[in-house]
Amino acid sequence: MTEASTRPASLGAAHTDLSAYDADTTERALIERRARHLGVGLLFYHDPIHLVRADGVWMYDADDRAYLDCYNNVPSVGHSNRRVVDAMVTQAAILNTHTRYLHEEVVAYAEELTATLPDGLDRVVFVNSGTEANELAMRIARTVTGKRGAVVMENGYHGNSNLIADLSLMGVAPDARAPHVAGVEPPDIHAGPFTGDDAAERYAALIDPAIAELDDRGEGLAAFICDGIFDSQGGLEAPAGYFPDVYTRVRAAGGLCIADEVQPGFARTGLMWGFSHEGVVPDIVTFGKPAGNGYPLAGLVTTDELMNAFTSRNIYFNTFGGNPVAAAVGRAVLDEIVDRDLCAHVAETGAYLRAALEGLHASHPEIGNVRGRGLYQGIALVDPTTGDPNPGLARLVPDAMRDAGALMGMTGRHGNVLKVRPPLVFDRANADQLVATLDRALTDLT
Ligand SMILES: Cc1ncc(COP(=O)(O)O)c(C=O)c1O
Repeated sequence: MTEASTRPASLGAAHTDLSAYDADTTERALIERRARHLGVGLLFYHDPIHLVRADGVWMYDADDRAYLDCYNNVPSVGHSNRRVVDAMVTQAAILNTHTRYLHEEVVAYAEELTATLPDGLDRVVFVNSGTEANELAMRIARTVTGKRGAVVMENGYHGNSNLIADLSLMGVAPDARAPHVAGVEPPDIHAGPFTGDDAAERYAALIDPAIAELDDRGEGLAAFICDGIFDSQGGLEAPAGYFPDVYTRVRAAGGLCIADEVQPGFARTGLMWGFSHEGVVPDIVTFGKPAGNGYPLAGLVTTDELMNAFTSRNIYFNTFGGNPVAAAVGRAVLDEIVDRDLCAHVAETGAYLRAALEGLHASHPEIGNVRGRGLYQGIALVDPTTGDPNPGLARLVPDAMRDAGALMGMTGRHGNVLKVRPPLVFDRANADQLVATLDRALTDLT
């Protein structure tokens, strides 16, 4: 075993150097084959897990060891969900083709999906990934505004195409920033520059100089794009009034407001859409990950006016996006959310989990704060004496949790926030197990 204190961070790092993994790791041969042939291969944990099946909130390795999944948001209505699998298999056995023929399923899915959104957000384009959805959202914004620039959050992530990678400042070196991108400080009321009662207004006011920067560079403002749960910034809740203020400033400058709902959408926060917490209606909503419960399904929804403005000047088609199987799967996911009342379940279980995690603070002062909404909770670990971020401790926790049979992640600008973001069918008993396991892990590590 590598000495725990000298290990590199286990999550979110690409290890092409095999010495990053424990020498006695159980699946050494598979790791070596993977390293020989995969181009880019992020791999979690120092003793990586070889998963072979999953069901509900449980994942099983090759030795049939069960892990409580506290991390995966894609299988939102549960791993191997029967209704979703049946819809997928049934439709695949009948017909699967692109969207340039008439087909009932894709239209019915578009109708059901837009019915969950505010009036006016009526036109859907289906694609295959969150990246594609955001890329198309930016193309629409650029077409209708005639400008090129975007205001984004510092350390955000929106995808991996050329344009969207430029907008994902999490992965861009400070000297490699594109001129069409201006970053603003995320509204972190726990550890950011503004923490007082006027934080919402002070964070929102940062939008104006960012827009001015884009104007000065001759790019202008096409759009403001934001993931409202702030996944890569450590999972934040924007202070009340922040988004309405930001949207007003963006629209006054002629830009569109794009809500990237790839993380918060589909009931994750206890409401169907994350932006509904904020009192705003975006011009474009993008979605992905949980929409297909693992089947590649993503898209955007916008208004008649914006869609018509775009299609009058561009041709867009997508071979796989919104095919009959994707649509059947998407409908099954929506049906599960409604029939199992998952929004209410998430709000209730999320509040229960939040209280239990906050309760750990009494015996673990290294828990600085807990943030997030619904079944997205970030646990910020700090040095109890200084209050400074404690990435040194945070990077050890996921491995300790994995050893104890629970999977969680790590996020945040300082790498000190533990990420809890389980399938939405996670219940109180699962929350109790997670909290008890975390309690033991923190006791062992401190
Ligand atoms: C907020 C957000 N937007 C967009 C994306 C990109 O989605 P995809 O990986 O499906 O391209 C991600 C992926 O992690 C994301 O977290």
